[in-house]
Amino acid sequence: MRIAVIGAGYVGLVSGACFSEFGFDVTCIDKDAAKIERLRRGEIPIYEPGLDDLVASNTANGRLQFGTDIAAAVEGADAVFIAVGTPTRRGDGHADISYVLAAAEEIAGAIRRHTVVVTKSTVPPGTSRKVAAILTGRLDESLFDVVSNPEFLREGSAIQDFMRPDRVVIGAETERARSVMRELYRPLFLIETPILFTTLETAELIKYAANSFLATKIAFINEIADLCERLDADVQEVAKGMGLDGRIGRKFLHTSPGFGGSCFPKDCLALTRTAEEMESPLTIVDAVVASNDRRKRRMAQRVIAACGGSVRGKTIAVLGLTFKPNTDDMRDSASLTILPVLQNAGATVRAYDPAGMDEAKPLLAGVEFCSNSYEALTGADVLVILTEWNEFRALDLKRVKSLLKSPTIIDLRNIYKPDAMANAGFYYFSLGRPSSGPLQKVRVSKAV
Ligand code: UDX
Ligand code: UDX
Repeated sequence: MRIAVIGAGYVGLVSGACFSEFGFDVTCIDKDAAKIERLRRGEIPIYEPGLDDLVASNTANGRLQFGTDIAAAVEGADAVFIAVGTPTRRGDGHADISYVLAAAEEIAGAIRRHTVVVTKSTVPPGTSRKVAAILTGRLDESLFDVVSNPEFLREGSAIQDFMRPDRVVIGAETERARSVMRELYRPLFLIETPILFTTLETAELIKYAANSFLATKIAFINEIADLCERLDADVQEVAKGMGLDGRIGRKFLHTSPGFGGSCFPKDCLALTRTAEEMESPLTIVDAVVASNDRRKRRMAQRVIAACGGSVRGKTIAVLGLTFKPNTDDMRDSASLTILPVLQNAGATVRAYDPAGMDEAKPLLAGVEFCSNSYEALTGADVLVILTEWNEFRALDLKRVKSLLKSPTIIDLRNIYKPDAMANAGFYYFSLGRPSSGPLQKVRVSKAV
């Protein structure tokens, strides 16, 4: 079978490469010609562990190709996946599906024989039905089926999430469409991956509901972390005690400076907008969005409080800028909220990130970008750990102490242990755990 994937971003490129690994002939199409040229030269435009080898091997055996011409790729395809961006629409928080509908128009003009058109991008419930309407307006219904097949890929582990998913969700409304999708996912079927067939809207909503629920877990444990600080309790122990309940589960209960990325913030917002439109508001998800935004702002105040109430004239070293480790993605990263607040309060910020520097530089004016952790630390008054990259878990603490002007660390990912840090002579602040060292507990006023 031949597959065309429209949109060679974090999702389209991973999906196309994995389908070619399954043995299908895949053409990834993107409107960004420079991106396609880089891919044709074997350069991977995003940081995704393992993707370079997967693309190289399947390009070499001729199963994976790249282009900019949707029509040429669609003509010979049995299935076309739409994986173009669905960013938050400026101003109203809805998902912008204009790129999805534009792709559907181009696809409609190129179909010559039965083709399954699959929405892979995260789209508001009802979007696949709009894609079907576009195709119906141009083609005999015998020539196409529309399917919703949302992705559940986490950046940094996207290939594993594609190859070993907890489930595959497929919204399809004809047996013909279902049989093509079974064929495409047969390698997963063989390892008994659950494949859930349902309607178009249900498949689209499963994606939004899953992401919003995961975001709810994070916002919940983050507020519990604040309460722990008032009660001298330990949020990591609370999360552990909760997670041992099979109904709750251990995952996504790690406290943080707030969730970011190209999905949770955008998907929560889009879902609440759809719910409002349908006059069935999701008040819990509304609260999650507000809580998460507030938390990111409060994190900056926490740094200021830990510096004695003012950062004017101080130098702050920040390790980690991306929204999570093992990605270069800066979309909605907590750093984009926190660093400007510190700069506006008069601080000089020096920063280092293992993979996100190129993406971060145009987004964080005035920040001094350093080439490694220790360069960023040199002469700084305080160290803030913002993203839990593994290399930050093994810092040479003696060297850190010698480089910092004062031994103060604010660990917003709880990667170190309070007692060990106190013994190493640091003023150490983390989230939801008793602070260590002689400093009084840092209280950030509720107002922020
Ligand atoms: C996107 C959506 O943002 C996400 O909600 C969905 O779950 C999967 O697809 P992502 O791959 O991260 O996620 O988007 P992005 O990295 O922005 O890639 C989109 C690609 O589509 C870009 O390379 C862009 O150039 C391309 N594109 C966009 C087209 O080829 N044609 C268009 O009309 C619009
Ligand atoms: C998410 C979903 O996990 C994935 O299923 C969906 O397809 C796309 O969106 P992603 O956004 O790549 O994936 O990253 P994820 O690992 O979910 O983390 C999202 C954000 O939540 C990050 O900012 C991360 O730091 C934060 N997070 C995650 C927490 O704060 N605590 C946690 O316990 C887990």
